Amino acid sequence: MLYAHITGWGMAVPETVLTNADLEKMVETSDEWIRERTGIVERRIAREGEYPADLATSAALQALQMANLSPADLELVICATSSPEHLFPATACLVQDRIGAVKAGAFDLSAACSGFIYAVQMAAQSIRTGALKNALVIGTENLSRFVNWNDRNTCILFGDGAGAFVLQASERPGGVLSAVLRSDGSGANLLSVPAGGSRFPASNETVHSGQHFIHMDGREVFRFATRVMAQSTREALQVAGLKVEDIHLIIPHQANYRIIEAAARGLKLPLEKFMVNVNRYGNTSTASIPIAVCEAVQDGRLNPGDKIVLVGFGAGLTWGALAAEWTGPLPAERRVNVRSFVWLARLRSLYRRLIRFIEGLLWGRREV
Ligand code: ACO
Repeated sequence: MLYAHITGWGMAVPETVLTNADLEKMVETSDEWIRERTGIVERRIAREGEYPADLATSAALQALQMANLSPADLELVICATSSPEHLFPATACLVQDRIGAVKAGAFDLSAACSGFIYAVQMAAQSIRTGALKNALVIGTENLSRFVNWNDRNTCILFGDGAGAFVLQASERPGGVLSAVLRSDGSGANLLSVPAGGSRFPASNETVHSGQHFIHMDGREVFRFATRVMAQSTREALQVAGLKVEDIHLIIPHQANYRIIEAAARGLKLPLEKFMVNVNRYGNTSTASIPIAVCEAVQDGRLNPGDKIVLVGFGAGLTWGALAAEWTGPLPAERRVNVRSFVWLARLRSLYRRLIRFIEGLLWGRREV
């Protein structure tokens, strides 16, 4: 029997820090209000020319190095994102090219902030069936580019960043134990970027009426989130045959400190059982859970053998929880230097573009 183990992890956040004090100068708000209502103190914002694929590539390379896995051995790259670089091509394909995952299929997954949990479960299922051995799952966001910086209801909440996991097959029991994925499209209107898709393509009107920005009914999303976090955690534990007491650490989506407190109350667990870093990064959507996992490992709060639950919610509405036994890197025979593959990947990408260009000239086309 095959198990899907999390063997590598990595994160990347932009250098630019936006504090509550900075926001006080932009909209009518206060550091006190933001801290009390959300727990957020600061968030990271991508600089000009820094995009989701850049952050994703950086997080992915760390995760591969941690797993001691060559990008060429990957068979699948899933990028969960709510702020992809383009409608298409998928951000996952841009990452696949940059890291040189030459044998991997690549696609983006859209399930808003629950996306990372959905993507880990998709990769884990593929591994458990024996369809593939090595997968890369990324959550990456530049939501700051969809935020209306004049809207105090939303601009205080979001930040940019990326996190990545490597999942690998092993016959050793452990890894991803269970997952519950849920959705309720009747709440689609509660959190959305209304325009930019095929229903409302970009036009002067959509731009002027702010339809390309995040629109949110904060109170309703808050009520929904507090309801589903504890409930889906219990469901995932039940499917895995675990009890709440078996869990070492819960890593929730980092949207609002009060939502995490409500989940702790719902599960009758102390807050110490939850990883919290929303204060430093705000809501980084699909990236928030893997970033929190990376910091939990770094802080020594997550060790091999520990039972954990990842739990999140988001637009859609979507929500989900995933129970796992933390593994860490699998034993390896030789050390892989992942960075060296990046140079090869760049050369390969240039070579393929060049060949396409020459073919285009030969066949009378000018596309590259
Ligand atoms: N500064 C000061 N006052 C503010 C601010 C602000 N930044 N934002 C709102 N207010 C005001 C409101 O206008 C309102 O004033 P009013 O009563 O005169 O109308 C008052 O504060 C209270 O507003 P509420 O909406 O009731 O505040 P609440 O305590 O619910 O907090 C918040 C708002 C933080 C948005 C909360 O509802 C929340 O976190 N909701 C969940 C949002 C979320 O997690 N979204 C992401 C989902 S994941 C994804 O898919 C991307």
